Amino acid sequence: MTVVLEGQGLARSYDVARGVFAKPGVVAALAGVSFQLEAGKTLAVVGESGSGKSTLARLVTLIEPPTAGTLLIDGRDVASASDAEKHAMRRRIQMVFQNPYGSLNPRQRIGTALEEPLRVHTSQTAEERRDAARTMMARVGLRPEFYDRYPHMFSGGQRQRIAIARALMLKPPILVLDEPVSALDVSIRAQVLNLLAELQEEFGTAYLFISHDLSVVRHIADRVMVMYLGRATEIGNRDAVFERPRHPYTRALLSATPRADPTLKDKKDRIILQGELPSPFNPPTGCAFNPRCPNVVDRCRSERPEMVGNATHAVACWRA
Ligand SMILES: Nc1ncnc2c1ncn2[C@@H]1O[C@H](COP(=O)(O)OP(=O)(O)OP(=O)(O)O)[C@@H](O)[C@H]1O
Ligand SMILES: [Mg+2]
Repeated sequence: MTVVLEGQGLARSYDVARGVFAKPGVVAALAGVSFQLEAGKTLAVVGESGSGKSTLARLVTLIEPPTAGTLLIDGRDVASASDAEKHAMRRRIQMVFQNPYGSLNPRQRIGTALEEPLRVHTSQTAEERRDAARTMMARVGLRPEFYDRYPHMFSGGQRQRIAIARALMLKPPILVLDEPVSALDVSIRAQVLNLLAELQEEFGTAYLFISHDLSVVRHIADRVMVMYLGRATEIGNRDAVFERPRHPYTRALLSATPRADPTLKDKKDRIILQGELPSPFNPPTGCAFNPRCPNVVDRCRSERPEMVGNATHAVACWRA
C-alpha cells in the first residue's frame, strides 16, 4: 500500500473582523484532521456546510498553508519542501470544483483551456498538446469538434466533464474533487460519477472526494471520513462506516438519506438532527456535537473525545 497524501493533525484558523468595536475573532475552520489517501483509491470527506471540507481541500492542494499539523505528499513533508519541489507537488495534485462555470475562463476556448496545464508544466509542442487535448476530450465523452467552442455553449454536465478532463491532462496521481456533482441534475450526476470511476480505473488516480451528501459517495468511496465543525468524527472503510456507523452524527447523516441506510426499516427509525451547526467562533466545549446529540452524557460536555479505533474503523465518541 502506497500512501500518496497524508494529513497529520492538519489545522487552519482565520482571523476575522467582527465589527468596528469588537475584537477580531479567530475561526478554527479546520481543527486538527488526520487521514491517509492510498494510491488509486478514493477517500470521501463528508460533512455539513461549514464543517471545513473546502478548507481541507485548499490545504492539500497547496493553495494555503496549514496553521498547524503536517501535510505529506508522496511521503514528503510539504513544509520543508523547496519552491521547486512545491512546484512539482502542485503538478501532482489537481482539483475539480463544484461550479464548473467558475473554474473555466469564459473567454477561453475548450481546447486552449485543456492545453494550458501542458503549456505551464511540460515542454510539449503545440501539436502534441492539441493531440493530448483531443484524446482526453474523447476519453471524457466530449466530441472533438467541441475543441474550438467556449464554456457557455455547454450544459452543466458537459462543463464538469471539461473540468475533469482539464484536471487530468497532467495525469496527476491525486485529484481533489470539491462537491463535483452537487450542482448537477440527479440524472447527470450518476453519469459523471460513473465517468470518474472509469477514469480512476484507467489512470490509477487517487481521489479526495468531498461531498455534503453520504449517498453520493456510497459507490465511489473506498474510505470515508465524516467531519463536524472542523474535526473528523468517524473514519473507516466504506462498508464499516455505511453498515456499522458508530458516531451518532454519522447515523443522523445516514438517516437523512434513507436509501443510503439499509438498516432503517421505516421512517420512525430516522434520527432528525436537532438545532443548527454551532458557530465555529465559539464551538461547544467537550465534543462539538454534544448540543445536538441524542446520546449525550455529562462527559461529552466537558471532555473532547479523541479518535479511537483501528485502520478499518475509528470513531471520536465517548458513547461508541
Ligand atoms: N477565508 C476564510 N476566512 C474566514 N473564515 C473562513 C474562511 N474560509 C472558511 N472559513 C470558515 O471556516 C468554516 C469552514 O468553511 P469551509 O468552507 O471549509 O466549509 P465546507 O465544509 O466546505 O462548507 P460548504 O459545504 O458550505 O462548502 C466556516 O465556518 C467558514 O465560514
Ligand atoms: Mg465547501
